[in-house]
Amino acid sequence: MSKIAPTTSFQILLSIFALPLLILPLHGNSQSTDSEQTILLRLKRHWSNPPSINHWTPSPPNSNSSTHCNWPEITCSNGSVTGLSLIDKTITRSIPPFICDLKNLTAIDLQYNYIPGPFPTTLYNCTKLEHLDLSQNLFVGCIPKDVDRLSTHLRTFNLSGNNFTCDIPAAIGRFPELTTLRLFLNLFNGSFPPEIGNLSRLEWLELSDNEFAQMAIPSTFTRLRKLKQLLIKGSGLICEIPETIGNLAELEELDLSNNNLIGTIPSGLLLLKNLTIVYLYKNHLSGPIPQPTEALKMEEFDLSENNLTGTIPDDFGTLTELSVLSLFSNQLSGGDTGKH
Ligand SMILES: *[C@@H]1O[C@H](CO)[C@@H](O)[C@H](O)[C@H]1NC(C)=O
Ligand SMILES: *[C@@H]1O[C@H](CO)[C@@H](O)[C@H](O)[C@H]1NC(C)=O
Ligand SMILES: *[C@@H]1O[C@H](CO)[C@@H](O)[C@H](O)[C@H]1NC(C)=O
Ligand SMILES: *[C@@H]1O[C@H](CO)[C@@H](O)[C@H](O)[C@H]1NC(C)=O
Ligand SMILES: *[C@@H]1O[C@H](CO)[C@@H](O)[C@H](O)[C@H]1NC(C)=O
Ligand SMILES: *[C@@H]1O[C@H](CO)[C@@H](O)[C@H](O)[C@H]1NC(C)=O
Ligand SMILES: *[C@@H]1O[C@H](CO)[C@@H](O)[C@H](O)[C@H]1NC(C)=O
Ligand SMILES: *[C@@H]1O[C@H](CO)[C@@H](O)[C@H](O)[C@H]1NC(C)=O
Ligand SMILES: *[C@@H]1O[C@H](CO)[C@@H](O)[C@H](O)[C@H]1NC(C)=O
Ligand SMILES: *[C@@H]1O[C@H](CO)[C@@H](O)[C@H](O)[C@H]1NC(C)=O
Repeated sequence: MSKIAPTTSFQILLSIFALPLLILPLHGNSQSTDSEQTILLRLKRHWSNPPSINHWTPSPPNSNSSTHCNWPEITCSNGSVTGLSLIDKTITRSIPPFICDLKNLTAIDLQYNYIPGPFPTTLYNCTKLEHLDLSQNLFVGCIPKDVDRLSTHLRTFNLSGNNFTCDIPAAIGRFPELTTLRLFLNLFNGSFPPEIGNLSRLEWLELSDNEFAQMAIPSTFTRLRKLKQLLIKGSGLICEIPETIGNLAELEELDLSNNNLIGTIPSGLLLLKNLTIVYLYKNHLSGPIPQPTEALKMEEFDLSENNLTGTIPDDFGTLTELSVLSLFSNQLSGGDTGKH
């Protein structure tokens, strides 16, 4: 018995030391304890080492372990990674889940790559995300109905230039901080939701060049009191321009060209003081051109290829900033309908 006791305690001793030895290598791989540099290097490997980020190499021993903060694609704050900007880096593979192990990430910009597949819901785990730009990639499928599981801090969201289809889900209206929403140049072939009108901070909205199924501009959009840019060209819009568009006091740029809009141009539109660009060409608008009484900053005004009648209001002569006035192919009487 007395001979067994030391053996047992030796075994216990052994297991006390062996246990951490066994666990450590696993632990070293585990996501929560990886250094941020290790996560970035894994990202590089996951993307099959694109030559464009060849300079992502491990820090030499004893050097500052935050040297990755000096890589041009990386932004750090207090030595922790907050931004990843990999524009046009020939990335051809998906976004891996461990990207969100960079716990302080606030900005991901992957514009102009070749990332395939469905919407990367794995980014729901990046809880501090404020800027997400996935534009100009090869994404397909629907924007998921629970897309609002992305960070509630989201301020800019750009999915333009992909092959997304389906409806734009109502959940897109549930980002309280969103100032920029760009979904142009996709294959959306359903509807876009009136809930976009709930994005009370929105300044830039771009839905152009999609294949929406005969949508009218929801009147809720005219609740977007901070909106500066409303671009929905070439997207099969029907019905009238909401009369309340004159409520968009901050509006600077409006492009609703190349749709099937009918009715008249709301007179409230040309009361907007900051309006500089208005493109309504190639629609079926009728009636008179309103007086541009307040829109004194107007630079480009294109109403060509509609069914407008009446004369060109005299006030256009007082718009000193105007460089483009295009009115050809309408039913206007008198005056010059070309550009000047
Ligand atoms: C390490 O690098 C980071 C980021 O470049 C810097 O903020 C920090 O001061 C450096 N620390 C040391 C000890 O040099
Ligand atoms: C950086 O550290 C300072 C001081 O600890 C803190 O006040 C600040 O919020 C930190 N910045 C970020 C972006 O975490
Ligand atoms: C994230 O930032 C906070 C505040 O600057 C810092 O305390 C924390 O260590 C950072 N997280 C990581 C994973 O670096
Ligand atoms: C978020 O991370 C957790 C833990 O790693 C994982 O179980 C979950 O599936 C992730 N969620 C998404 C949407 O990827
Ligand atoms: C995207 O759509 C275009 C035009 O319809 C098509 O030519 C292209 O093959 C599509 N790409 C992917 C990745 O689906
Ligand atoms: C996407 O939107 C962001 C924010 O407005 C902008 O900086 C970026 O240039 C846009 N990308 C494309 C391809 O339009
Ligand atoms: C939208 O496009 C997708 C993919 O091409 C197709 O499966 C779907 O039937 C289309 N939906 C409508 C309403 O046309
Ligand atoms: C958002 O908008 C929709 C339709 O415009 C409305 O039914 C809903 O109650 C609004 N509010 C929220 C918080 O979604
Ligand atoms: C118009 O633009 C000016 C200058 O950028 C700005 O001060 C003003 O608040 C804007 N809005 C209106 C309604 O004039
Ligand atoms: C203009 O109105 C005429 C007569 O109502 C109609 O035949 C024509 O298609 C309309 N043109 C446009 C561009 O809407």
